[in-house]
Amino acid sequence: MSDRIIIKTKQEIELIRESSLLVSKTLGELAKHIKPGVLTLELDKIAEDFIRSHGGIPAFKNYAPSFNESRPYPFTLCTSVNEEVVHGMPSMRRMLQEGDIISVDCGVLLNGFYGDSAYTFAVGEIAPAKRRLMEVTKQSLYKGIEKAVAGNRIGDISQAIQVHAEMSGFSIVREMVGHGVGHAMHEAPEVPNYGRRNSGLRLVEGMVIAIEPMVNSGKRFIQTASDGWTVYAADKKPSAHYEHSVAVLKGKAEILSTFEFIEN
Ligand code: MF3
Ligand code: CO
Repeated sequence: MSDRIIIKTKQEIELIRESSLLVSKTLGELAKHIKPGVLTLELDKIAEDFIRSHGGIPAFKNYAPSFNESRPYPFTLCTSVNEEVVHGMPSMRRMLQEGDIISVDCGVLLNGFYGDSAYTFAVGEIAPAKRRLMEVTKQSLYKGIEKAVAGNRIGDISQAIQVHAEMSGFSIVREMVGHGVGHAMHEAPEVPNYGRRNSGLRLVEGMVIAIEPMVNSGKRFIQTASDGWTVYAADKKPSAHYEHSVAVLKGKAEILSTFEFIEN
């Protein structure tokens, strides 16, 4: 990933909004299918068909980030169940069960621009502790977004996320971060989910960033499975992940993705 921050025009932001909206609609479509008995590979097929039928390309498929150059990612979605934090791989052997939580991360390329969003879903009735983890993680995302305003600094976003999650008794995964998004799925700058306010890069109008806290109910430490992708909580306690693509403007953050297709 280049260090160059690409500032977007109003028109480019509208195109990233279109891409982000297709991701949001895909997550909304998946919400109808997330219930006990569904296989995570079935969800992946539904998402891929939905994206392609709307003129998009699944952005994760064949993506080979620097940490995994020799192992391109083979799926449309990341489906991370319970103690899995991120990058869980859809499988015909993973059937969702009542009481699970599943973090679904999705990216699309549409009209030359990328959108990226993630949501943690409940499978049927879940334990109150999992419900609270989900709520706090989503709240942390929105606390971060509130700070994504021109003139603030990256650390203002990071600290707002960290404080909310940790004050609620949870821990922030530190090894993975949010990122610029638009012309590529991952652009500069990095957007950590922990840090100190009034530190880091200054935010300017026209930056577009994906903010994506990963919050563990236990300790923050993670491990990677032998598949080379699946990241899970080392203590095997549940983890949640929410992500929005957000444009930095003067006086406000404009959320380009939306959870309305999931929650309404
Ligand atoms: N969507 C992840 C992120 O939010 C990246 C997924 S990596 C992939 O940044 F290889 F699975 F695509
Ligand atoms: Co992302």
